Amino acid sequence: PPLHRILSLADMEDVARRTLSYKALSYYSSAADDEISTYAVILEDKILLQRTSYATRLQDKRFYNNPGHQTSIPVFVSGAALAKLGHPAGEANITRGAAKSNIIQMVSSNASLSYEEIAQAASPSQTIFFQLYKHENDAIAEKRVKDVEKLGYKAIWLTVDAIVPGNRQRDIKSPWVLEEQEQPPKYYIEGEGVADQANSLGTAGALIVNDDRDMTWNRTIPWLRRVTKLPVVVKGIQCVEDAVLAAEAGVDGILISNHGGRQLEYAMPPLEILYKLRRQHPEVFDKVEVYIDGGVRRGTDILKALCLGAKAVGMGRPFLYAQSAYGEIGVVKIVEILKRELTTAMALLGASDVRALTPDMVERVDWQPI
Ligand code: FNR
Repeated sequence: PPLHRILSLADMEDVARRTLSYKALSYYSSAADDEISTYAVILEDKILLQRTSYATRLQDKRFYNNPGHQTSIPVFVSGAALAKLGHPAGEANITRGAAKSNIIQMVSSNASLSYEEIAQAASPSQTIFFQLYKHENDAIAEKRVKDVEKLGYKAIWLTVDAIVPGNRQRDIKSPWVLEEQEQPPKYYIEGEGVADQANSLGTAGALIVNDDRDMTWNRTIPWLRRVTKLPVVVKGIQCVEDAVLAAEAGVDGILISNHGGRQLEYAMPPLEILYKLRRQHPEVFDKVEVYIDGGVRRGTDILKALCLGAKAVGMGRPFLYAQSAYGEIGVVKIVEILKRELTTAMALLGASDVRALTPDMVERVDWQPI
């Protein structure tokens, strides 16, 4: 359909579902086990009227001692691997779309383009962040961090929820190499035998095989601090206790995330953790910037997270689907949709500014989707 018929992120996902290859769709959309943890959106909101500005800055002087990075809406791209699986231009679609929409992209350690190619696709003033899967060998990991710092990436988001891949059955079932294909598709996964591994372990299993399974607050965070001056955000906080420990470990930010439901099935939904953290440990929000991702699809989802004290929300699949279906203009389109939805929701809530949003605007109720 023409782009003007795409009215929501669900519409965009429908187009992607009709156009993606079987493998790409299985990898992008799959989650762990019975896939019940995919959507974080379990809180109903109590909503009232009117608005204005929601532009904000991430990683600004409050915690980072710098002016921060401008974003037109408190939404960023969460690093998700293998964008080329859905579109030949891959991550560069997201980079260019993010530049046009003035939002920030976090680039996956397992991007299908090189970190350099993505940095080159960025405009000179554009902010890009880097998602780090830490290699088990510190020296190799250090080199990766230093390389991306040199390339101009502005923060390191260390993923801690994926030391082993989740049990993503739909991904494992859909083969990398179809019988009729002679070669493993070359830009999906590189390296000898990797496609075979992907066929038995699932895509993520093949990608994160050398990652550090032994990260600790006392060792890994100080290590990362030594190797880089960039802000450090821990990605994949899945309980209140770890949020508190991360703040104590002296990171700059935390991303509350269940990896889009792809890792631990039945892990606490991210919005639930944010809700508890806000009530039980409000001091954490004074120590670190708090972000959230997982299942965010609507302006109201963003709003709930902002009310509870998140500085911004991330999204993974929506950007993959949008770039797969329409390339960079798909990315621009979903940001437009989210802006409109957020504007409407803030108007109806009666908040004129993101700073006017408070935790008491969100209430937990017993509520079952029909
Ligand atoms: C991911 N995610 C992810 N996270 C990460 O730290 N490194 C990675 O390489 C990837 N790769 C990846 C691939 C795909 C296909 C998906 C869907 C997700 C997780 C991602 O950063 C983010 O946490 C979730 O995607 C958020 O959930 P939603 O927005 O997809 O519901």
